[in-house]
Amino acid sequence: MASLTSAKLCFLPYCLVILLYVSSPNWVAFPYATSTSHTEAKALLKWKASLFLNQALNNLTWYDPPTHNINATNSSTTNPKPGTSPCTWTGVSCNAAGSVSKLTLSTCGIQGTLHEFSFLSFPNLEYLNLSLNKLFDVIPPQISYLSKLHHLDLSQNQFSGKIPPEIGFLRNLRFLSLSDNTFFGNIPNEIGNLKSLVYLALSYNNLSGLIPPNIGNLIKLNTLYLNNNHLSGLIPKEIGNLKSLVKLGLNSNQLHDSIPASFANLSNLEILHLRDNQLSGSIPQELENLKNLTKLYLDTNQFSGYLPPNICQGGKLTNFSVFRNYLTGPIPKSLKNCTSLFRVRLDQNQLTGNISEDFGIYPNLDFIDVSHNNLYGEISHNWQKCPKLTALRLAGNNLTGSIPPEIGNATLLHELDLSSNHLVGLIPMGFGRLTSLERLMLNGNQLSGRIPSEFGSLTNLDYLDLSTNKFSDSIPSILGDLLKLYHLNLSNNKLSQAIPLQLGELVQLNELDLSHNSLEGSIPSVMSNMESLVTLNLSHNNLLGSIPSSFEKMHGLSYVDISYNHLKGPLPNINAFREAPSERLKGNKGLCGKVGAMLPPCNAHGSKKDHKVIFSVLAVLVLLFALFTIVFAIVQIKKKHQDTKQNHMHGEISFSVLNFDGKSMYDEIIRATEDFDSTYCIGKGGHGSVYRVNLSSGDVVAVKKLHLLWDGGIEFQTEFFNEVRALSEIRHRNILKLYGFCAHKRHLFLVYEYLERGSLAEMLSKDEEAKDLGWSKRVNIVKGLAHALSYMHHDCLPPIIRH
Ligand SMILES: *[C@@H]1O[C@H](CO)[C@@H](O)[C@H](O)[C@H]1NC(C)=O
Ligand SMILES: *[C@@H]1O[C@H](CO)[C@@H](O)[C@H](O)[C@H]1NC(C)=O
Ligand SMILES: *[C@@H]1O[C@H](CO)[C@@H](O)[C@H](O)[C@H]1NC(C)=O
Ligand SMILES: *[C@@H]1O[C@H](CO)[C@@H](O)[C@H](O)[C@H]1NC(C)=O
Ligand SMILES: *[C@@H]1O[C@H](CO)[C@@H](O)[C@H](O)[C@H]1NC(C)=O
Ligand SMILES: *[C@@H]1O[C@H](CO)[C@@H](O)[C@H](O)[C@H]1NC(C)=O
Ligand SMILES: *[C@@H]1O[C@H](CO)[C@@H](O)[C@H](O)[C@H]1NC(C)=O
Ligand SMILES: *[C@@H]1O[C@H](CO)[C@@H](O)[C@H](O)[C@H]1NC(C)=O
Ligand SMILES: *[C@@H]1O[C@H](CO)[C@@H](O)[C@H](O)[C@H]1NC(C)=O
Ligand SMILES: *[C@@H]1O[C@H](CO)[C@@H](O)[C@H](O)[C@H]1NC(C)=O
Ligand SMILES: *[C@@H]1O[C@H](CO)[C@@H](O)[C@H](O)[C@H]1NC(C)=O
Ligand SMILES: *[C@@H]1O[C@H](CO)[C@@H](O)[C@H](O)[C@H]1NC(C)=O
Repeated sequence: MASLTSAKLCFLPYCLVILLYVSSPNWVAFPYATSTSHTEAKALLKWKASLFLNQALNNLTWYDPPTHNINATNSSTTNPKPGTSPCTWTGVSCNAAGSVSKLTLSTCGIQGTLHEFSFLSFPNLEYLNLSLNKLFDVIPPQISYLSKLHHLDLSQNQFSGKIPPEIGFLRNLRFLSLSDNTFFGNIPNEIGNLKSLVYLALSYNNLSGLIPPNIGNLIKLNTLYLNNNHLSGLIPKEIGNLKSLVKLGLNSNQLHDSIPASFANLSNLEILHLRDNQLSGSIPQELENLKNLTKLYLDTNQFSGYLPPNICQGGKLTNFSVFRNYLTGPIPKSLKNCTSLFRVRLDQNQLTGNISEDFGIYPNLDFIDVSHNNLYGEISHNWQKCPKLTALRLAGNNLTGSIPPEIGNATLLHELDLSSNHLVGLIPMGFGRLTSLERLMLNGNQLSGRIPSEFGSLTNLDYLDLSTNKFSDSIPSILGDLLKLYHLNLSNNKLSQAIPLQLGELVQLNELDLSHNSLEGSIPSVMSNMESLVTLNLSHNNLLGSIPSSFEKMHGLSYVDISYNHLKGPLPNINAFREAPSERLKGNKGLCGKVGAMLPPCNAHGSKKDHKVIFSVLAVLVLLFALFTIVFAIVQIKKKHQDTKQNHMHGEISFSVLNFDGKSMYDEIIRATEDFDSTYCIGKGGHGSVYRVNLSSGDVVAVKKLHLLWDGGIEFQTEFFNEVRALSEIRHRNILKLYGFCAHKRHLFLVYEYLERGSLAEMLSKDEEAKDLGWSKRVNIVKGLAHALSYMHHDCLPPIIRH
């Protein structure tokens, strides 16, 4: 609300000026101008006057040069002086005769429609580029008057309606792009008349119906993009006539049936993109003839049968993607020496055969996924010879043998997924060299021996799953060095001895599963340092003793399973335990507590219990005190708010900062930010701006200054108090800590913990920083957000967000 209003205020003087021109009484028509360029100037100004009044119109400096008229702005009406020529105007080019031939108005930010665009006035227009603006509504049929047009680019606007069939009269069109708008209805048959077309893109619209077969008449086409629409029916076999076609994108539609055999004639094709349709049948072997093919995407369809064995006959294939189909038979044999390969996805099919020697050495291969097929054989020694491989996925097959030791040479690997196979033996020496690994999945095999302590050098790991194997001996304490771990699953092995204390270092860990092992000893109390933990499964082990009371600080925890151990004593008083169903607690020696409904109450025994009581009483007292302080402060502020209403001369301060003295803190913040000078501002949001404040103590805090609205005061104060109340009561890893707040006649602000690096939006808007923020990090951010939200929904009392 607030920022919107201020934006309006900023624009206001400008809007007034424009309104003056438009509604100026100077509306008398000039004598009829005969020159084409004057008609064109007039038509341009008339259209400009129909556009939305936004700042982008400043970009259209369409008026006479100010030399012969110092009241230049006055000529920006719809009536240019006789003799005005638009040839020097922004985005306008003319031919030798001084008539407009080219309009390049892409990325200008203009907003409006083409209704006032007088097509008839531009008989010599050859090039019209309005892409990347905010133009909307239909394309008027009069567009057909632009009979000399050869380039028409209206992509990335908000045009809608049907594509006018009249577009078929533009016989000279060589380039036509209407992509990325919201056109609906059928593709008009008249498109087939545009025989000069070289480039046709109608992608990212809402087009439906069939692809008109006469598109096969456009024999000069080099590029045809109809992807991301709702097109249905068959792929017309006539597309096979387009022998010049180099790029064909029909992906993300609802096309049925098989690929026409006529595609064999598209011998210049480099990119064939048919993914995400409902295509079926087998992939025509004739595609082998397309020797220039570099990118072939057929995934997410219903193809069956065998892959063409010589699919890489041309030796240029880089991207080959056929995942999520019903393909059977062997891996195509031409893939073995297809050294151009860069990204390969054959996963989620029913491919069969022994893959031990199906793949060769690929100098450029970056990513290969053959997971979830019916392949058998051993892991090839060739993978580690692919110098650029970053992801190798062989999961969910019938692979046997052991992991080749040379895999340690594939030092660029970020992801290695060998899960759900029949691999045996030890994790080979040399694994520690895979220092780029972020995700390692070896689960669901029959690997044995110790988990090597070499794992300690895999410090980039964030996902480690070794579950359902036969690993034995102790959990190496060095796993505590993998500080980026987010998910750790060691369940269903034969691990023994105590849980290493070092695991407590894993402060990023969200999911820990150590279940179904033979772990002994007690649960280390340092485990409660895993402050991000959400899911904890320790079930089916031999753990002894009581659950450390320090677990009560694990407020993020929402799932615990401690069943089938030898645990006793009281359950920690947090939701995760309180709400755990009995099957996640049963099978222990002597758990007690009011919390789990079916557990017996804890009997008082000894001083330990007394300590607990004293501790809880203390905690309650502290809480009560804190609450009292907040309530008191709120009452004070409300009172003062009323006072200020009566006496506006008083600028009293209400300040509550946990460890600071209110008045001096207020002064210090004002001083440190030079009364909220914009140089200290590190971010702006809907309700306020955030400042970085260096306190004299050396501490750095973030101060969020809420917009103060003269009239919306009450509403704002309510919002302010809500935020204070909510934030002062919660503590969660993914939610900023609130130190205090200030309510003053001049300022309303909140004092937060300061975190480096600014806002996510800002990071994402800078290419360099956005690149640093890889997908796995983004996933972690999203998960963190989800946890914070989930916490606010379910885990804090009372919930901050109600359903
Ligand atoms: C004016 O045009 C430039 C590029 O031509 C564009 O970057 C800018 O965003 C436009 N201004 C507005 C207000 O849209
Ligand atoms: C500019 O406008 C002023 C009135 O605002 C007028 O007196 C003056 O003659 C105009 N100058 C020209 C060159 O039209
Ligand atoms: C524009 O022209 C009108 C009369 O045609 C005049 O009153 C006005 O002052 C002019 N505006 C400017 C900015 O000179
Ligand atoms: C239209 O302008 C955009 C943005 O400048 C450009 O990317 C595009 O290639 C242009 N279209 C044509 C047909 O030249
Ligand atoms: C696109 O078409 C679908 C149905 O074909 C419709 O549900 C959807 O609302 C349309 N979207 C737009 C933006 O027109
Ligand atoms: C390929 O083109 C030739 C000549 O234009 C034609 O005779 C043949 O039938 C076409 N092939 C297919 C498979 O359509
Ligand atoms: C394939 O590409 C090459 C080089 O880019 C080109 O010379 C050739 O004409 C293309 N077409 C065929 C059918 O090989
Ligand atoms: C692969 O080997 C076959 C013969 O074994 C050969 O015809 C083909 O050209 C080779 N392809 C590449 C890309 O080297
Ligand atoms: C296809 O390959 C190119 C490199 O040739 C790569 O940059 C691109 O990301 C790949 N695209 C997909 C969807 O795999
Ligand atoms: C693995 O092979 C066995 C027989 O050797 C077969 O029964 C089983 O279905 C195969 N599993 C997969 C995932 O292919
Ligand atoms: C798979 O092929 C390799 C090499 O050709 C061979 O050594 C191995 O025995 C085969 N595996 C099976 C299960 O047939
Ligand atoms: C790969 O690893 C093996 C054993 O781990 C080693 O002997 C060899 O020198 C390494 N380098 C290459 C290029 O294979």
